[in-house]
Amino acid sequence: MNFLVLVFFVTISTTISDRNIFGGGACGGISPVTRWMRTERNDSIRMNVDTSSCQFENPPLYFTSITGGVGHYLLTGINAIYEATNYGFIINVRSIDGANANTLMERSAQWKLQWVGLQS
Ligand SMILES: *[C@@H]1O[C@H](CO)[C@@H](O)[C@H](O)[C@H]1NC(C)=O
Repeated sequence: MNFLVLVFFVTISTTISDRNIFGGGACGGISPVTRWMRTERNDSIRMNVDTSSCQFENPPLYFTSITGGVGHYLLTGINAIYEATNYGFIINVRSIDGANANTLMERSAQWKLQWVGLQS
């Protein structure tokens, strides 16, 4: 019975998966709030995330989320990865309440970015 369940699971998972994205392993971290910085725009802020401690061999698949005190549930852009490399990536965030960059910088003093990279 267990064998049949296993065969069924393996058959299904190999059918629906294009590729095993976990094959190369996962590595992640929590970036300090001091990495938030202003951009040329007045409605968003940016973080250059440093993932070099993971020693990825190729640009991995990066995933992000934010923990914090105030207003992080209003953010848009935290899942949009820019310029992914072995060593890091960039995110740009904006708030749907229209907060300006000054307010975002104040709020970001409590926003920690947690991220994971899956080596493909
Ligand atoms: C950004 O600047 C533009 C042009 O001055 C202004 O119209 C807009 O309201 C500003 N946005 C914010 C969020 O401060």
